[in-house]
Amino acid sequence: METDKPILLSGIKPTGAAHIGNYFGAIKQWKEFQTIGSHQCYFMIADYHALNFVQSAGDMRDLTHDLVLTYLAAGINPEKVVLFKQSDVPAHTELAWIFDTITTMPYLERAHAYKDAEAKGKEVSVGTFNYPMLMAADILLYNTAKVPVGHDQKQHIEYARDTAEKFNRIYGDTFTLPEEFIVPDVATVPGVDGRKMSKSYNNTIPLFSTRHEIEELVMSIVTDSSGDRPENVYAIHRLLKTERELDAVYDEHQGRYKALKEALVEDLDAFIKPMREKYHELASDPRTVADILEKGGQLARERANAKIEEVRRAVGVS
Ligand code: TYM
Repeated sequence: METDKPILLSGIKPTGAAHIGNYFGAIKQWKEFQTIGSHQCYFMIADYHALNFVQSAGDMRDLTHDLVLTYLAAGINPEKVVLFKQSDVPAHTELAWIFDTITTMPYLERAHAYKDAEAKGKEVSVGTFNYPMLMAADILLYNTAKVPVGHDQKQHIEYARDTAEKFNRIYGDTFTLPEEFIVPDVATVPGVDGRKMSKSYNNTIPLFSTRHEIEELVMSIVTDSSGDRPENVYAIHRLLKTERELDAVYDEHQGRYKALKEALVEDLDAFIKPMREKYHELASDPRTVADILEKGGQLARERANAKIEEVRRAVGVS
C-alpha cells in the first residue's frame, strides 16, 4: 500500500440501509478517486458515531456488517484502499478527548445538528454534542487532505479545519488542514418527498432495493399538479441521465406523470440491479467482511498510532 500520496478519507454511519443519496453524494466520488489513484484512500465505517443512534449490540453488528457489504457491492475495492471500522482504531476517541480540551461550548453550540436537535426539543446526548470533535479526530488523525462528502457534512469539515488550526496554534504545527470535496450537482440528493434524502426522514430509495420496492417508492414520489414536469421525479432522474437524454423523455411524455415515473423505475432498476446482485452474492460469504476489516484495521492503526504518539508528545502526556 503506497503511503507517499496525499490522504483522502471519508465514512458513513452504520445506522440503516444505505441509499442513493449516500451513493451519489459520496460513494460515487470515492470510486472515482479510487480509480484515478491520486490519493491514498481511507474509507471508514463510523460505528462510534452511529452509537448516538443505534443502541443495541446485535443491531450495531448487523448494520456494520451490512455497510461493509454495501461498500464492496458499490465498487469499493479493499485491495486499493484502506477499508476500516472506526472502533478498531482507539486513537480516534483519544484524539477526540484531546480536542475537547481545546474546544469551547459556545463553538460547539453553533453546530447545525446540535441546533436542530435543540430546536425540536430533543434531549441531546453529550455524544451528539461532541460529534464534530470525533469527526475532526477521524479526519486529522490521518493527515487527511481531502474529504469527499455531501453538503450536509460541510460544517463538520470546517470544524475539523478550525480545530487543526487551533491545535497547531497552541502546540505547534501538527495537523494538515483538510478540504471538503463536494460535487455541486449532487451535494443534496432529494428524497421521494422532495426534502433531502435521509434515513431520518424516511424518504430514501435504498441502494439495493428490489424492482418491486423501486416501483412502490417511485410511485410514492410527491408530485404537484402544476407544470409539465414533475420536479421531484425529474430531480431523481437527473442523477441517472443527462439533461439532454431526459429532455427527449420528458418532452415525449409531457404532463403524463405516470409514464414519467415508469421511465424512472426502468432507469433506477437498471442502475441498481448490478449492485443488488453483487450485494447478495457477497452476503453469502461472511468471512470476507471479517478479513477485510482485520486487514484494514491494522493498516489504519499503523498510521493513526504514529500520529497519536506525535500528538501525545506535543501536549506533554507521552
Ligand atoms: P452519513 O452516514 O450521514 O452519510 C454518509 C455520506 O452520504 C452523504 N449523504 C448525502 N449526499 C447527498 N445527498 C443526500 N441526500 C445525502 N445523504 C447523505 C453524506 O454527506 C456523507 O458524505 N458524519 C458523517 C460520517 C463521518 C465522516 C467522518 C465522514 C464520520 N466521520 C469523517 C467523512 C469524514 C455522517 O454522518 O455521514
